[in-house]
Amino acid sequence: MDFKLKVPASMSNLGAGFDTFGLAVNLYNIFHVKSSNTFFISFEDLDIKPEENLFLKVYKRCLEAFKEKEIPVDITIKTEIPFSRGLGSSSSAIIGAIKIFDILYKKGLSYDDIFKIAYEFEPHPDNLVPALVGGFNVCLKDDNQTFFNKLDFPKELKILAIIPDVKISTEEARKILPQKIDIKDAVYNIQRSNLLLSSLISKRFELLKEAVKDKIHQPYRKSLIPYYDDIENIAYDNGALAVFISGSGSTIGVFTLRNECLICKRASLFLSAKNIKSSCKILSVDREGAKICQS
Ligand code: HSE
Repeated sequence: MDFKLKVPASMSNLGAGFDTFGLAVNLYNIFHVKSSNTFFISFEDLDIKPEENLFLKVYKRCLEAFKEKEIPVDITIKTEIPFSRGLGSSSSAIIGAIKIFDILYKKGLSYDDIFKIAYEFEPHPDNLVPALVGGFNVCLKDDNQTFFNKLDFPKELKILAIIPDVKISTEEARKILPQKIDIKDAVYNIQRSNLLLSSLISKRFELLKEAVKDKIHQPYRKSLIPYYDDIENIAYDNGALAVFISGSGSTIGVFTLRNECLICKRASLFLSAKNIKSSCKILSVDREGAKICQS
């Protein structure tokens, strides 16, 4: 046995679509599974303690839930998705563990079976759904039932991830949100999340800038991201169509039709002048989700 499974990163929320929109992008966790004499899981280039290894925890939970014994396999994880940056690295690890269990033990798990285990570790379908099925999704979870709809995402839109070297825990970034919101703010977000959907479907890209405005999470979370407003201004001044916090941050997502290298360069130079390390990636949509790839 020798195969690789790759599971994409995701950008969620996309401004007003808090806890709803999830977009898979072409950064991956790649799991290389080989026959072995022992059961061994390791990371390429990273030293992660077993108790911090989410993949291992989820895989062990699958063994327990299905009363299965460990098969001796060697799994090496190569991760291109930075941790705690709002790019769905946890969801990618969770989906990777459940899919590998499913393949090795020939369980034929349905999407619902997979989400049921996944929710024990991560309650956000807007990252789990794109990791599993790829593409741009409208997602929601009602009790334990998951509803999602995968829609076309315009091929011409380039997706940038400006990733400051700042970790943000989703749990902490949820704690700072208000427990109640004004009805005016709810209406504000409903209007804009629908505007986002309709402008992507009809390719009215000039509407995206208004569509990503949000009153539920970004005004609170941007305080956790150094110089968020400056980066937003730099991106818009250089031709970006939409700028938003990816997931709970710290990554800043940008949609653009042009100047992708220039936006990355200017944002990186600005942050570096403020002594903030960062990287910037020019991405595209992953349309397939978790997928076995050539070994
Ligand atoms: N929608 C979730 C949040 C995603 O913004 O908290 C977490 O990655």
